[in-house]
Amino acid sequence: MKNQKSTQLFKNAQKVIPGGVNSPVRAFKSVAADPIFIQKAKGPYLYDEDGNRYIDYCLSWGPMILGHANIFVLSGVEKAMSKGTSYGIPTVGETQLAEMIVSAFASIDEVRLVSSGTEAVMTAIRLARGATGRDKVIKFIGGYHGHVDHMLVSAGSGLMTLGSPSSPGVPADFAKHTLLAPYNNPEAVMELFKEYADQIAAVIVEPIAGNMGTVLPKPFFLNELRTLCNQHKSILIFDEV
Ligand SMILES: Cc1ncc(COP(=O)(O)O)c(C=O)c1O
Repeated sequence: MKNQKSTQLFKNAQKVIPGGVNSPVRAFKSVAADPIFIQKAKGPYLYDEDGNRYIDYCLSWGPMILGHANIFVLSGVEKAMSKGTSYGIPTVGETQLAEMIVSAFASIDEVRLVSSGTEAVMTAIRLARGATGRDKVIKFIGGYHGHVDHMLVSAGSGLMTLGSPSSPGVPADFAKHTLLAPYNNPEAVMELFKEYADQIAAVIVEPIAGNMGTVLPKPFFLNELRTLCNQHKSILIFDEV
């Protein structure tokens, strides 16, 4: 397969973008390759700058569930854009979107719309800490929850390519509030709750662990987390970004 153009484009990108990519999940180091640069996409296919065509199983990590450049989506976006692209003050569309999300999920009562997964995680953890008055958060080894400081501890995804358990630049004072447990191991979580009884604000988990190779939860693992959090009045955060 040809990839000379992508390789050259990656070299150019590295001159002006740290590491050449804007998210660790776009770095290809863990698969010993240079990232491919996409030129366009249509339906189920991605086309790169070298003219290769790929079936897209990633779908931009979820949102392209209707396929790329879907005609209904494009015409909806075009209609909205013709009214201007951003106002910086509220619009009725935000409430309508929130209402649709709330009515689609029995477990969701209210929605806060944010721009990135990192921001969502940061907000959820701040809320959990504020509501419980506690500092510590349990995360699972290999789970990735964005580049917020205290979550860059044993994070999976592209961060594994750094070859260190946590990112340089994360103060030890922040990381010390992050407790680690192996995924699918409720006993380890139970032990942490025993040791840090009233200090745990939240448990954060990728319900299906996508950032360490798509690992499914064992039967009842998530139920046990729910029970433990209820028992200890901690918040359970499902990060499904
Ligand atoms: C589970 C999970 N949480 C959070 C994030 C961070 O999202 P973002 O890159 O939009 O900040 C990611 C990104 O890959 C993710 O997979």
